[in-house]
Amino acid sequence: MWWWRLLVKRFVLQWHLSENCNLKCLHCYQENHKPIQLKYEQLENIYNQYKKLLKKLKMKGHINITGGEPLCNPHLFKILELIKEDSENITFSILTNGTLINEEIAKKIKSYNPYYVQVSLEGGKKINDYIRGNGTYKKIAKGIVNLRKQDIFTSISFTANKLNYDEFPKVVKYARKYRVNNVWSDRYIPLGDSEDKNLALSYEETRKYLNIINNERNKLMNKKYNITTISMYRALQFQMTNDFAYGCTAGDTLLTVMENGDLVPCRRMPIVIGNLLQDDMYSLYKKSKVLNELRTKKIPDECSKCEHSEMCRGGLKCLTYAIYKDLNHKDMGCNL
Ligand SMILES: C[S@@+](CC[C@H](N)C(=O)[O-])C[C@H]1O[C@@H](n2cnc3c(N)ncnc32)[C@H](O)[C@@H]1O
Ligand code: SF4
Ligand code: SF4
Repeated sequence: MWWWRLLVKRFVLQWHLSENCNLKCLHCYQENHKPIQLKYEQLENIYNQYKKLLKKLKMKGHINITGGEPLCNPHLFKILELIKEDSENITFSILTNGTLINEEIAKKIKSYNPYYVQVSLEGGKKINDYIRGNGTYKKIAKGIVNLRKQDIFTSISFTANKLNYDEFPKVVKYARKYRVNNVWSDRYIPLGDSEDKNLALSYEETRKYLNIINNERNKLMNKKYNITTISMYRALQFQMTNDFAYGCTAGDTLLTVMENGDLVPCRRMPIVIGNLLQDDMYSLYKKSKVLNELRTKKIPDECSKCEHSEMCRGGLKCLTYAIYKDLNHKDMGCNL
């Protein structure tokens, strides 16, 4: 996935602007869906802290604007104005459920020149609507059509769980029908509201899932006039492609800000480092024991003999953390 690799040298901020959302998906890790909404001035302050961190680290940045549903956020476009002023140093993407993107919104998004827009889809109509809510399958398609009309680079995100992992081919078909640029997928993490729903893939399901994505990817490579790619640059996916291994960057060149200003390494690794309404992002980044530990790139004992360990470092760390509550384990889906 070439465009994701361009981001590797940037310091990525995953910014959950608020918990507001128009859906209530079965698998979602959000805990209460209560509209915790910081004031614009507080969000601006967080943005300025991120700029300071970039300056101190002498790095360029990329912000993934997410939520909740970013398009339910009253301050979204004011935040995009801020980013536009710094567009030489900071790029951005929007991660959305796609259901609110009409023509006007798509045009407005385009005017801010996003790096890409990511829209979520969970399978064919039946299973997608079971997970995301009735009628969402059609609304997502309308959103995607509007984005593509504006020539916005559009990516579909598929979150694989027990109920939908074998529906990946249907997602690829949909992506091709609507001329989506890219499809990517990662595994469901048992967290928050959905933790006790028994949705996480088992070892056997993980191996089948990785095979399914790879088969779809190989099929697309032989198709003529195809613009849709399938990226396989997530934990363990290199085991199918022989490409280089993905290494988690959480705490190193990725930080996440939650709806209430809490700073965590990643939304899927919710270890609170501090709160940006009181603390400073750069100081937390430098001083936090957890972040420093993540940056030492420690390899789990079970992976010490693996030839891929320098890059892979145990696979999907957030899944390991969710299951074992510590990071010193091999990815439960690994076959090595
Ligand atoms: C939290 S949503 C926010 C953006 C937008 N509302 C959406 O649905 O795309 C971002 C992504 O996280 C995924 N996600 C939600 N809960 C998850 C979980 N428990 N494990 C892994 N991914 C999850 C969603 O499927 C979506 O692709
Ligand atoms: S996955 Fe996205 S759309 Fe679904 S409930 Fe969570 S935040 Fe809302
Ligand atoms: S053994 Fe560990 S480092 Fe090697 S591929 Fe599996 S999870 Fe990654």
